[in-house]
Amino acid sequence: MAKFVINGPTTLNGSVKVGGSKNAVLAILPGCLLATKPVTLHNVPAIRDVSVMLELLRCFGMGIEGESGTVVLDPRGLQATTIPDDLAVRLRASITLLGPALARFGEYASVHPGGDVIGKRPLDAHFMALEQLGATFESDHHRYTVNAKRLMGTTVLLEEPSVTATENVLMAAVLAKGTTVIKNAACELHVRDLAHFLNRLGAKVTGAGTNKVVVEGVDMLEGGEHRVRADELEAATFIMAAAAAGGNVTIEDVDTEHFGVLPYKLRKAGVNLEQHPDRFIVKGPHKLRAESIKTGLWPNVPTDVASPYTVLMTQAEGVSIIHEWMYEGRLFFTDKLVSMGANITMADPHRVIVFGPTKLYGRPVASPDLRAGISMVIAAMVAEGETVIDHAEHIDRGYERLDERLRALGADITRLEETEPAV
Ligand code: EPU
Repeated sequence: MAKFVINGPTTLNGSVKVGGSKNAVLAILPGCLLATKPVTLHNVPAIRDVSVMLELLRCFGMGIEGESGTVVLDPRGLQATTIPDDLAVRLRASITLLGPALARFGEYASVHPGGDVIGKRPLDAHFMALEQLGATFESDHHRYTVNAKRLMGTTVLLEEPSVTATENVLMAAVLAKGTTVIKNAACELHVRDLAHFLNRLGAKVTGAGTNKVVVEGVDMLEGGEHRVRADELEAATFIMAAAAAGGNVTIEDVDTEHFGVLPYKLRKAGVNLEQHPDRFIVKGPHKLRAESIKTGLWPNVPTDVASPYTVLMTQAEGVSIIHEWMYEGRLFFTDKLVSMGANITMADPHRVIVFGPTKLYGRPVASPDLRAGISMVIAAMVAEGETVIDHAEHIDRGYERLDERLRALGADITRLEETEPAV
């Protein structure tokens, strides 16, 4: 257990480098199960979700050198296995092992990874799609097993454009016999990065990043090298932190071309944001105005930024509505912002109305999930006085050395590690 202690208000100044994409690497690492020779990955972020995924891959006999930065994965000793329940439930993204493990070993079994605090996330889209490729599933309330002698390419219509379901089908189809056409595919940037990675190993994937992905099956993948794309969600988080706190911040090492509509919305909200091909520059002061958003699939404003955007709107003049249609629990954390002085009314679980601007005050709060946690860090940097954020380990799941990087920008943030009391 960890806590962040933050004293505000602080402005942020300087440069920060964006790390590798969490959601891209959480698909690319399982994709290494399809390889037959060593794979070198660069720009692997040092986050907790990556550590758990590497531990899961070790269970399959994957040789692994390095934990972050450059990581070399050697698949030559791979064997089918049942992953331990405690690891599978620690990482919801363990679901991305399903497609590649099935393709490589013809079988896979796991506990259901379950939902999390942001909401229910059924796996129907994954199961239905893989069944279309010839897999058979058995499932009870606790565990599922899946088998397939040989996956056969076909046209797969996804029930909904789920990101990880698209990734699972894509990875399963790489070694299937014949051609698979995935319709209603998710277009998110991590799907595109996964396809680039698989193609470097010898896969034949076209159309990734659009809603129709075509995969020509091949007999085997070799090894190869790939640099994980920069995390656009982390870049977006730093933009919002800089805009809410004030100051001048350059957000470096990011591919801004494929960012979608978020920069336009931020400019409409009064954020003074310069966009260069490889960096954003946020230049205060800003005249923040209320600007409502409805999250959506790429290239719309991603669900994952709804929480930090809500904090930004507490500092904007006027009334905004944040409509987060995907997860029914994502916005519940806003009661913590209210306890810090924000004026927010929950219209229903998917929508909050923010009346701004309001002064925020430091409070003891707890981080219920990754994106709510980072939002409270932003709120704490805006707020007057001390905020103690409990369960900061949720934030470590997706943000590398956040406290160090914010301190380098001028934030007054300290990490306290709590040890379990002796019994
Ligand atoms: N959904 C719909 N309609 C759709 C698409 C999705 O109702 O058109 C529902 C799904 O049924 C599901 C939920 O929305 O219950 C989540 O959607 P999806 O299956 O696409 O999410 P995921 O694949 O489980 C990934 C990211 C999430 C991110 C979502 C949405 C990974 C490992 N996770 O999850 O990231 O929020 O896509 O973009 O890639 C995070 O980074 O904090 C995170 C939760």
